[in-house]
Amino acid sequence: MLGIIFTNLVEMIETTVSYEMADEILEEANLSSKGVFTAVGHYPLEDVVEIVTLLSQKTRIEPDALIFAFGKYLFAKLMDGHKHIVSSDATLFDLLAQLDSNIHVEVLKLYPNATLPTFTTLDHQPDQITMIYQSPRQLEKLAEGLIQGGAEYFNTPVNVDLLNVATMPKKVQITIKKR
Ligand code: HEM
Repeated sequence: MLGIIFTNLVEMIETTVSYEMADEILEEANLSSKGVFTAVGHYPLEDVVEIVTLLSQKTRIEPDALIFAFGKYLFAKLMDGHKHIVSSDATLFDLLAQLDSNIHVEVLKLYPNATLPTFTTLDHQPDQITMIYQSPRQLEKLAEGLIQGGAEYFNTPVNVDLLNVATMPKKVQITIKKR
């Protein structure tokens, strides 16, 4: 995972829990990076898992709920850092429909070592979209959080439904409907 994922995860812990909690976790975790991340560096997914597992033990919040919350937090941070990638008049549904064909393509140009998922659009209407999420990292809860973060960012309340549709490889159908 890119360093920006880690720097934002640590920042979320610092600002929504406490600086002490973030320090404690970075000290206790057995990270390959030793807790020092640069935005464009690349670090193992296991390091994210380790940080989330420790945070879960300390806060007694389920890892899935923490990953969802992180996705929600992360969306605005990604947008702030990459405004030129998303057209200023885009809606939430435009952005979702362009994730694979545009947004993540531009992300890969900026960060050639990024490891990105694939989103295949099955059905796209002005107020509703159905996509298949697929990634060896199986971060569909992060995707759900990013979508809800996007809904907040664009002021477009939505319902998001996840449905496992295949196991080998795992595919998750995500339906987003305007409320
Ligand atoms: C609602 C919209 C979005 C969704 C659902 C989404 C989904 C995801 C997911 C699930 C990942 C984790 C990697 C994986 O699953 O394999 C990811 C990674 C990433 N996405 Fe997106 N994304 C969205 C919007 C954006 C935007 C707007 C940007 C930047 C302009 C962005 C930039 C990135 C970056 C930099 C990574 C990290 C790649 C890495 O760690 O190597 N995404 N995205």
